[in-house]
Amino acid sequence: MDIRPATPSDAEGMKTVHDEIFAAGLRKAPGDIRQVMASYIDETDRIGCFVAVDDDGRIMGFQSLRYARTGNPYGVAEGWGIIGTHVSPHAARKGVGSGLFRATLDAAKTFGLAKIDASIGADNALGQAYYEAMGFRTYRTPEGLVCKMFEVSA
Ligand SMILES: CC(C)(COP(=O)(O)OP(=O)(O)OC[C@H]1O[C@@H](n2cnc3c(N)ncnc32)[C@H](O)[C@@H]1OP(=O)(O)O)[C@@H](O)C(=O)NCCC(=O)NCCS
Repeated sequence: MDIRPATPSDAEGMKTVHDEIFAAGLRKAPGDIRQVMASYIDETDRIGCFVAVDDDGRIMGFQSLRYARTGNPYGVAEGWGIIGTHVSPHAARKGVGSGLFRATLDAAKTFGLAKIDASIGADNALGQAYYEAMGFRTYRTPEGLVCKMFEVSA
């Protein structure tokens, strides 16, 4: 498994990961190339976005980390990081998410982030278990969400 920063040529494969998560009933909408480009590749507040690629060049998953500005739609405190993780069900439970978080954490440290928010659906036990395993802990529970926080140490 290779883990590297996402580039525009990864957008199609990242969309496919969203399609596969949607097909498994773990996502509300299928993939959309424009949304992938805007939210992950061209995101102006991007701190890091990493893809995990298998030996055949297929994208198994990706993880984004963006800077939280005042008034962000997630209600995250300004100056924190906001993380999102997307692993294809075809590649689940093989360490892809863990590998992605190692790269993201390096990027967070390089950037100088102190805290990272993961806002997870209250009904997404799998996502909650993953972030808990990565060291995130619940710090608020707005309607429909479980928000977990990771404290970045140098
Ligand atoms: C949640 C998700 C990112 C996990 O990715 P993954 O590549 O399967 O994770 P890993 O294999 O690195 O697992 C790391 C740890 O997370 C936990 N975990 C992962 N999948 C789990 C599951 N199905 N049930 C319970 N715990 C789980 C375990 O502690 C696991 O460690 P272990 O395998 O040594 O027990 C992936 O399933 C996913 O993208 N799901 C759909 C989208 C989503 O829910 N995103 C996150 C919330 S917004």
